[in-house]
Amino acid sequence: MKRFSKVVVAGVLAASMVLFAGCSGGNNNADGDKDVNANAESQESNVLKVGTNAEFAPFEYVNEEDGTTIEGFDIDLINAIAADQGMTVEMENMEFDGLIMALENGSIDVAIAGMSVDPKRAKQVDFTETYYDAGLNIAVAIDDDSIASEEDLAGKVVTAQQGTTGANKAMELQEAGVVADVKLLANINVCMMALANGEVDAVIMDIPVNNRYVAAHPDEVKIAADIVAEEPEQYAIAVAKGNTELLEKLDAGLANVKEDGTYDALIDKYFGAAE
Ligand code: ARG
Repeated sequence: MKRFSKVVVAGVLAASMVLFAGCSGGNNNADGDKDVNANAESQESNVLKVGTNAEFAPFEYVNEEDGTTIEGFDIDLINAIAADQGMTVEMENMEFDGLIMALENGSIDVAIAGMSVDPKRAKQVDFTETYYDAGLNIAVAIDDDSIASEEDLAGKVVTAQQGTTGANKAMELQEAGVVADVKLLANINVCMMALANGEVDAVIMDIPVNNRYVAAHPDEVKIAADIVAEEPEQYAIAVAKGNTELLEKLDAGLANVKEDGTYDALIDKYFGAAE
């Protein structure tokens, strides 16, 4: 099931934009050849290595037809931000709970993965401004009418994706003596499989992702209830702690794509105008 792939997404588009920006900047310069070389060099150093966990539709997922291309809201967003800042993107697919370590050891520059800002993570990495409001809800099997609230998880077996806020919530409910058992699994598909097999009673997952899965499998699963949280969960892009230069570029790019309508167009593309 695990797929580790390295794909250049929309690299051509972004690269041509860099080239275009470089060319227009070099118009006053008589030394055309030198400009081309400079462009090639800056392009090289402007490759942004972006890590994600492409098991989280509609934010990031692997294209089912070719089995390798990583697509989704986050991918389009980071490409737009990168292009705005004269950078190209190289995507790397990895486990969600490996992203922070990959930032720390420098194997990726940026993580975008529907990652919620939380105080513990904020000690390990730096976050951009937030770009999406989410939260958690509970999915159950279509024929299960025993769960209509978080309290109804009493005595139940719950699953969530390991390393996520949903996993934290599940463990919290277990420690509080509510949930009987917690099974943390690699991604939403295995979580939903465990639900279908009857191994677990409920899946705690991000609202937009659970909802998307339910919409695609209306005969199998349904949303039982929302998790009521004190604070809303908000997604942001992460960089290594102290990488202020990159953080500023990403924030500038994010502000620009919000302002020029690109962000709204992506919301429309992935969630429809209603959301
Ligand atoms: N928002 C949740 C968190 O930050 C889940 C994110 C999972 N993302 C993913 N691409 N699998 O913990």
